[in-house]
Amino acid sequence: MSVAKPLLKLEFRVLGPSNEGEVLDLYNSLSNESIYYRFRGFFRDFERYVRSVFSDPRNIVYGAYLDGKLVGVLEAVFLTDGCYEMAIVVRDEYQGRGIGTRLVAYAIADLKKRGVKTLVAHTTPDNYRILAISRKFNGIIKCAYGECTVVFNLQAIRTDQFLLLN
Ligand SMILES: CC(C)(COP(=O)(O)OP(=O)(O)OC[C@H]1O[C@@H](n2cnc3c(N)ncnc32)[C@H](O)[C@@H]1OP(=O)(O)O)[C@@H](O)C(=O)NCCC(=O)NCCS
Repeated sequence: MSVAKPLLKLEFRVLGPSNEGEVLDLYNSLSNESIYYRFRGFFRDFERYVRSVFSDPRNIVYGAYLDGKLVGVLEAVFLTDGCYEMAIVVRDEYQGRGIGTRLVAYAIADLKKRGVKTLVAHTTPDNYRILAISRKFNGIIKCAYGECTVVFNLQAIRTDQFLLLN
């Protein structure tokens, strides 16, 4: 499904521990539905989660800003050398406007520059948005027993068409 969307003037940044408060604010704003899709359950201990992500310098956290407000966060969590796991969320009121797609493109382009080869994501078969985004970046999707794993071979992915929008 691809409908022309008004172009948002987004800014993307790599975030650090000094951004913990903003990231926490975004997580605390989420609806139950977004929390469910993001964490595949009704998780609430955002403070501990955010602190633990920032505490490992091998993890890379990306933020999408609109008019100075953090509207999307993507965490690339270190698994093994050259391999990261991605998790992403966009504030409820900004979903469906192309922010998630562009944040994934930005993260993939940056991870490629850092020499990362493989990115994986876990989701559920009913998460149409992340599955649609995964297909745009040629992710290999395998679903079984109510869970989907997506594997991206980063070196084979081109992100230019999504980043030209910035
Ligand atoms: C998943 C998420 C990050 C996507 O970000 P977003 O900004 O909403 O996504 P985009 O607008 O860039 O793209 C969504 C795509 O899904 C498609 N889509 C939406 N509903 C769909 C449906 N029912 N069937 C098929 N495709 C659908 C959209 O058409 C769009 O594709 P398009 O640009 O080709 O039209 C966001 O929706 C979110 O935060 N969801 C809650 C948390 C979550 O699910 N995280 C992912 C698990 S790690």
